[in-house]
Amino acid sequence: MTKIVNSWNDFDPLKHVIVGKADFTVIPDEEPATSEKVPVDSEMRGMWGPRPTETVEKANEALDRLAKELENRGVKVDRPTPIQWNQAMMTPDFRVPSGQTQMPPRDILLTMGNEIMASANSFRCRYFEYLAYWPLMNQYFEEDPEFKWSQAPRPRLTDKSYKHNYYDEQITLEERLERTANLDFVTTEAEPMWDAADVLRLGKDLFIQHGLTTNRKAMEWFKRYYPEHRIHAVNFPGDPYPIHIDATFVPLRPGLIINNPERRLPEEQRKIFEANDWQIVDAAPPAHKEPPPLCYSSVWLSMNCLVLDHKNVIVEASEVHQLEQMEKLGMNPIPVDFRDAYAFGGGLHCATADVYREGDCEDYFS
Ligand code: ARG
Repeated sequence: MTKIVNSWNDFDPLKHVIVGKADFTVIPDEEPATSEKVPVDSEMRGMWGPRPTETVEKANEALDRLAKELENRGVKVDRPTPIQWNQAMMTPDFRVPSGQTQMPPRDILLTMGNEIMASANSFRCRYFEYLAYWPLMNQYFEEDPEFKWSQAPRPRLTDKSYKHNYYDEQITLEERLERTANLDFVTTEAEPMWDAADVLRLGKDLFIQHGLTTNRKAMEWFKRYYPEHRIHAVNFPGDPYPIHIDATFVPLRPGLIINNPERRLPEEQRKIFEANDWQIVDAAPPAHKEPPPLCYSSVWLSMNCLVLDHKNVIVEASEVHQLEQMEKLGMNPIPVDFRDAYAFGGGLHCATADVYREGDCEDYFS
């Protein structure tokens, strides 16, 4: 019996990680939470169904490349068990024509020390996604006597959980930004809802993005569930589609964070970093003008890197500016060709979930 699960941040030496799989990925039909989340000019509006097989195969090749790179560097890699998502799913409260995918694991699993918790996602199509990770959770549970296998309260996701007609008419980018600034999102406060990728872990402090996928009630839930931690709600007024914090605000090592220059952390929320001598640096511009086809995310997946330790970081191979900036910041960037996986939910950080990093729960902001 050994200790298998331990991780308190995104930069201490990575030893064991989960890398997602693209099998059976479906573009979900519109639902109250997602129709608002697909940009109005996106080619994905109104379309749904299984993703084309060759794109699934290419995404899996990219994911396998990442897994190989990690294994070559001595990191143990586990993979989820794919589920056939192209089938209707229902609960007492809703019915959807399909699920979505087992990508990205970062959205579903939150590792807090010796605990891995499945999150309370706001998309109905992601309601059952945690099941793809349950075989691994069960294995960790059998092998690690201290592993805490947990699950956030499951939201019901009835119609009360969403604002309706939120974007019925085409709204402009300015109006979207105004809504972000006013913290006016599609999810209501009916129940706690959160995606694990909205939670930035820095030891004792959790910085949680309030946006389209995580609501205020979730912050309150975190405060009560983790009374030993400080919970900070953060928001980035420059982001018209605030979903997941990891293409916006990305720590590289203790004391250093890169911040999306289009989505700067407001002055008021920067104070805690500045008061503790943390440096917040504008991330380098993306190398691409457009995301790849059928992609939900923005070109800022450029900064969605996977930190292996305080020096080494995996960066997407075509992101020349981000690679160069890493060197300037004293990091050793390792390029991995990963763009073919972007359309399946995100970049290198998104596509993984921590199982084991060395290190303890530090207090960086006392
Ligand atoms: N909202 C981000 C962007 O488009 C993408 C974040 C993806 N992250 C994730 N964990 N799935 O800029």
